[in-house]
Amino acid sequence: MNENSEGGPAGTGRGDTRRFTGQVVYITGAGSGIGRAASLLFAGEGAWVAAADCDEEAARKTAEQIAADGGRAFPLTVDVRVEDSVRNAIEKVVQRCGRLHVAFNNAGVTHKAPLEEHREEDWDRVIDTDLKGVWLAMKYEARHMLAAGGGVIINTASTYGLVGAPGVAAYVAAKHGVIGLTRAAAVEYGGRGIRVNAVCPSATRTAMLVLDGGMEAVWNERHPLGRIAEAGEIARAVLWLASQEAAFVTGTVLPVDGGYCAR
Ligand SMILES: NC(=O)c1ccc[n+]([C@@H]2O[C@H](COP(=O)([O-])OP(=O)(O)OC[C@H]3O[C@@H](n4cnc5c(N)ncnc54)[C@H](O)[C@@H]3O)[C@@H](O)[C@H]2O)c1
Repeated sequence: MNENSEGGPAGTGRGDTRRFTGQVVYITGAGSGIGRAASLLFAGEGAWVAAADCDEEAARKTAEQIAADGGRAFPLTVDVRVEDSVRNAIEKVVQRCGRLHVAFNNAGVTHKAPLEEHREEDWDRVIDTDLKGVWLAMKYEARHMLAAGGGVIINTASTYGLVGAPGVAAYVAAKHGVIGLTRAAAVEYGGRGIRVNAVCPSATRTAMLVLDGGMEAVWNERHPLGRIAEAGEIARAVLWLASQEAAFVTGTVLPVDGGYCAR
């Protein structure tokens, strides 16, 4: 493993012990929820954050918040479903920053409907965003990381990548696919300095999760810890996977689920 690609020794000297100082981190879905929380935490640990989202305004707000907190970031507009858009975004990161150390492929959408009522367009939107989007991202991230001698990739799957659930068939299929893709990439790139892991959140308080109409109590009850996750709790696991502390961790699927899958 290339030390620099992994976070290397903490900081750049002069007493900076932050875990990602000097590293460039590309994050999709950075405008909201888990991606936004991860963007703020990575920046707080010294990273230069490329905050990417299809929602231009949301990406800009995340980058502005990081700057207001004294960190370093810039917004990027990307549609993770579209190859040209993904290639352009990752090329911009490398052109601007000279390097890509960590990628957090996190953008996602869901669709709630019985399987027999999914329309083809619903299926395609979820699979294109949540599964194809992760493949496209890794395709261009890996090219840069291979040329540079290494890197770290974390993909957001879900507990629904590990178990089934009713009413979200395309999403469950996409997230199971993300886990397979993560393992394939980890095996393919392990000998060439790139670690690839997946994080599996369960219900997390973000725009994606419907909590009204008594649903928060229902979700709480499904978790042995008796509550849902906060976005920062998922993001902290992502930072650990990206860090040198996880130098021997690849091809791993990490549930951050309050015990959801232990039931
Ligand atoms: N919230 C949960 O309960 C939960 C549970 C398990 C997994 N996840 C996963 O976590 C990830 C982040 O979701 P979140 O909960 O933070 O939701 P969120 O809705 O708050 O954030 C998702 C972000 O992805 C962006 N996005 C959507 N489509 C995009 C596209 N085509 N190109 C670029 N950006 C796009 C959105 O604009 C948004 O900013 C997703 O992959 C989701 O499936 C969420």
